[in-house]
Amino acid sequence: MKRIAVLTGGGDAPGLNAVIRAVTKTAINIYGCDVLGIRDGYDGFITTDGVTLLDLGAVRGILPRGGTILGTANRGNPFARKVLRNGKEVVVDVSDEITAAIKKLKLDALIVIGGDGTLRIAMELAAKGVPVVGVPKTIDNDIGGTEVTFGFDTALMIATEALDRLHTTAEAHHRVMVLELMGREAGFISLHSGVSGGADVILIPEIPFKFESVLKKIRQRVESGSLFSLLAISEGAKPLGGQPVFRRTGDEVYVPRLGGIGQEVGQYIEGQGFETRVTVLGHVQRGGSPTAFDRWLATRYGAAAVRVAAAGGFGCMVALRDAQVIPIPLSEALAIPKRVDVNGDGVLTARGLGISFGDE
Ligand code: F6P
Repeated sequence: MKRIAVLTGGGDAPGLNAVIRAVTKTAINIYGCDVLGIRDGYDGFITTDGVTLLDLGAVRGILPRGGTILGTANRGNPFARKVLRNGKEVVVDVSDEITAAIKKLKLDALIVIGGDGTLRIAMELAAKGVPVVGVPKTIDNDIGGTEVTFGFDTALMIATEALDRLHTTAEAHHRVMVLELMGREAGFISLHSGVSGGADVILIPEIPFKFESVLKKIRQRVESGSLFSLLAISEGAKPLGGQPVFRRTGDEVYVPRLGGIGQEVGQYIEGQGFETRVTVLGHVQRGGSPTAFDRWLATRYGAAAVRVAAAGGFGCMVALRDAQVIPIPLSEALAIPKRVDVNGDGVLTARGLGISFGDE
């Protein structure tokens, strides 16, 4: 292995720089490779100045830094890129340009750090002969085949701290506090932080809720002397028989984005006579320094990805299974998106603690 490249794609997550650092150091120290950084996801292969040399100096000091020194993009799928032709927007497949650029760079491996969208593109590039190894990234923890993605632990810590802070002000004012959290169609952030932050109600996409059940829980608490309530609500939560709420519908440039269910639930509760405030935690969950666990996991993923590449394990993604980082086929990881097991111990634990999922 003489030359490898690394790129970060999709929404950022704390720990991206830790992976870039681990890839670069392992490739240089163990394999004596050149390492190239590709800027702004796959776009970097076809833009001017999209490729940069990563040496040990380039990755010095980045371990605790949030974001990604390479930049990222969550648009621009090379298999379906939107471009303007004669003033009209058309979708074109530029994947051949990408594979040609990869060939021209004489890459022995391409390490792709991303979520399901970025990794799916990696899988399609692998089918075209690109020597790809994937690293699973997302605060949502929704990638199959791995016990956890890096970025999730940091998001949890931030969400739990937000719940702790809302808890004291909720209690002081006898209010209902709603915290809307990210996670797309997966409820992991709300479930884990909700349990860790002592929420009274957790609403997740996997368990459709009834407004009346949420209200019942708040009323029960008031009757038993607890004049405040704390609600952790996933952005993808939806009422039984209803649809998720979007803050931005898709258009020619942007993909749809969830958001607004916290406000809807808050308005309903307020309308029933309980003073309510709604906080949308948003991108705070993705910013800033990774936790020690995410640095540890990201570093192990990055180092393992280089070892997998050196062994020729292309078309694979590194995954955490039984506390070991192992390669699994990208096709396996992407076959079924990971969701909260509604009968699993996390949900059962929460129910046992008296937390309502709004379904009873
Ligand atoms: O996938 C990560 C994530 O933060 C989701 O939880 C959220 O729905 C989405 O990205 C937000 O995307 P954007 O940064 O495009 O607003």
